[in-house]
Amino acid sequence: MPETSGHQPFLIHHLPTVDSTNTYLKGMREAPEWTVVTADEQTAGRGRQSNQWHSAAGAGLYLSALLCPGTMMRKAGWLSLLAAVAGAETLLDLGLDGVDIKWPNDLLIGERKIGGILIESETSSSGRLERAIVGIGINLNHHLFPPPLDQTATSYRIETGRSIEVALVRTRLLERLAHWYQQWCNEGESAIRDRWLACSSYGRGRAVGVTVAGERVEGVTAGLDLEGALRLITPSGTVRTIVTGEVSHLRPVGEAPSL
Ligand code: BTN
Repeated sequence: MPETSGHQPFLIHHLPTVDSTNTYLKGMREAPEWTVVTADEQTAGRGRQSNQWHSAAGAGLYLSALLCPGTMMRKAGWLSLLAAVAGAETLLDLGLDGVDIKWPNDLLIGERKIGGILIESETSSSGRLERAIVGIGINLNHHLFPPPLDQTATSYRIETGRSIEVALVRTRLLERLAHWYQQWCNEGESAIRDRWLACSSYGRGRAVGVTVAGERVEGVTAGLDLEGALRLITPSGTVRTIVTGEVSHLRPVGEAPSL
C-alpha cells in the first residue's frame, strides 16, 4: 500500500528487491507526481553514462521520484542541480564532513563518491518536460566496495564508523527534494544556483577537464549559465559551456599527487 508522508503527499512504494527503481517507476504509466519507489536492493541499478550502480541489499538508499514540472526541456538541467543540492543537504544534515558536489550532481566526500543521481525524462511534442524520474542512490551502510569501486567510492559507514537507518535518510532526502523543487517551480533557479555553488567546490576556480563529443576541453570553472550548464574559461581565454559529460579534476602544476 502506498503511504503518505509529511506535508508533501509522497506516494511511497517500497519493494524488497527490484531491477532498478527508475525502470520500475518508468513503467507506472498512470502514477501521479511525487510517486516514489524505493527498494532494499537493486539487481540492475543504473548510473549515468551507462554505468551500473552498486546496490547491495540494505546498504544504500535506492530511490526514484516522479516529478512533472512541465517546464521547457532546456531548463531541465536545474532539476539535476536541485536534486544534487537536496542530496548534499541530506548528507550535511547527517553530520558528514567534506560534502561536495561535482557538476552536475555527483555527491562526494572529498574526492570519493557517496551518492549519484540519474534523471530520465520524457518530453511532450512541444518540448515540455512532462515526466522526470529522479533516481538517487546514496551509499550508507556499505563497509567496503568491490574493486574497482573500492578506489573511488565511500559510504556513511566508512566515513563515520556507524550505521544508519535507511528510512531516516529517505525521509530527510524527500523533504529536501520537495523543498528545492517547490522553490524552483515557484521562484525559478536563482536560489538553486546560489545553493549549488555554495555546496560545490567545482563551481568556480577549479581546473577541470571534460570530453565533449569526443573533444577534450580543459579549463577553469566559472559558474553556471542560465540553463545550469557549467562555464569553463579555457587556456586561450574563451568561455565554453558544458551541457553534458564527465568532469574530472585536473591536478594543478606543482600539486603533489594524492596517495
Ligand atoms: C550516477 O551514476 O552517479 C547515478 C546513480 C543513480 C543511482 C540511482 S539508485 C536509484 C535509481 N535507480 C537506478 O537504477 N539508478 C538510480
